[in-house]
Amino acid sequence: MRIELSYYRYMIRMLVTGGLGFIGSNFVRLTLKERPEYEITVIDNMTYAGNPRTLDDIKDSITFVKADITDLEIIEKLVQDNDIIVHFAAESHNDNSLEDAWPFINTNIIGTFRILEAVKKYEKRLHHISTDEVYGDLELDDPNKFSEKTPYNPSSPYSSTKASSDLLVRAWVRSFGIKATISNCSNNYGPYQHVEKFIPRQITNILNNEKPKLYGSGENVRDWIHVDDHNSAVHLIIDKGKIGETYMIGANGEKSNKEVLSLILSFMNKKPGFYEHINDRKGHDLRYAIDATKLRTDLGWAPRYTNFEEGLKDTISWYENNRVWWEEDKKTTEIRYSKIEK
Ligand code: NAD
Ligand code: DAU
Repeated sequence: MRIELSYYRYMIRMLVTGGLGFIGSNFVRLTLKERPEYEITVIDNMTYAGNPRTLDDIKDSITFVKADITDLEIIEKLVQDNDIIVHFAAESHNDNSLEDAWPFINTNIIGTFRILEAVKKYEKRLHHISTDEVYGDLELDDPNKFSEKTPYNPSSPYSSTKASSDLLVRAWVRSFGIKATISNCSNNYGPYQHVEKFIPRQITNILNNEKPKLYGSGENVRDWIHVDDHNSAVHLIIDKGKIGETYMIGANGEKSNKEVLSLILSFMNKKPGFYEHINDRKGHDLRYAIDATKLRTDLGWAPRYTNFEEGLKDTISWYENNRVWWEEDKKTTEIRYSKIEK
């Protein structure tokens, strides 16, 4: 791989933070496959969400640094050594943030601050990955969707730390002129997602012959997008996005949790009633929906995975075929959930 790359006049050195996680690792894979001009370094401190098996098969094609993004010395050195920083690293799970918010404040706010200071010092390009959750939630019948102009109104400790990190990025752009863009994406699905999250949790419950667990009424709506579509949009923003701008990423994939669960049950040959309702998440956001007009119109983006059912079937197959990847995490995750769920 590296030898073929000598065809390029020069390589672009890309630092991917959180590259061992769900979206970051899929980004690394997509980049190796489709964008050989990038030389990738991953920084990840391997929290419970960074599964060491995730990058095993491609470890020789990247440089991996096990370190914390809050570590000033290391982050300065890595930012200095790279041309562009794509910042995925975060504590990402709402339920965990309701139990202990500190890791979220530390990684999502302080970690982003460290990156911003280094980006400012060495004048590097930054793309900051964020979430639609910074905008709060919508009523089920609200005709409006989240757009770049929607005011911030986060609900959980997780989303408020992501909102904080976005605001820091905006302030560093305005006050110090750093070259940064931000994207706010909706719920991702696909391979390598931690089993604490909704879709993998229900699939792996069924594979373990346990009933799926639906919070509250199950009527909450999420706007699903395949992880590769999220990441193709990130590449486009890096290529063509306007410095200082925010781009919403979404693929018109609104579905209630109940609808997604029924699909999973039917694809896995289970009876429609094979699940249980459990107590609701505190402050549970009702609905997310993204208006990605700016990304589509200004940058010409379109999703490749337009059939959610097919993408979901592929995701189910991936978990069926990769038990070794998730089995250990499943045990610890369900122990964690059993302490908080009734
Ligand atoms: P994830 O939890 O699967 O992965 C996060 C990764 O970051 C892990 O590998 C973890 O070890 C690493 N990490 C955490 N703290 C770190 C630290 N202090 N230093 C270095 N590495 C650290 O998360 P994900 O779902 O892949 O989300 C990635 C990014 O995308 C996050 O910023 C998240 O807010 C955002 N996002 C996620 C979704 C989604 O649906 N999952 C949607 C929109 C945006
Ligand atoms: O919208 C983007 C966000 O999507 C990202 O910023 C977050 O990092 C990511 O975790 C995700 O947040 P959600 O809270 O929407 O995802 P989660 O998978 O935790 O839950 C999806 C929905 O399913 C939500 O309404 C809660 C519900 N749920 C979740 C679990 C784990 C259940 O009903 N049962 C469950 O067991």
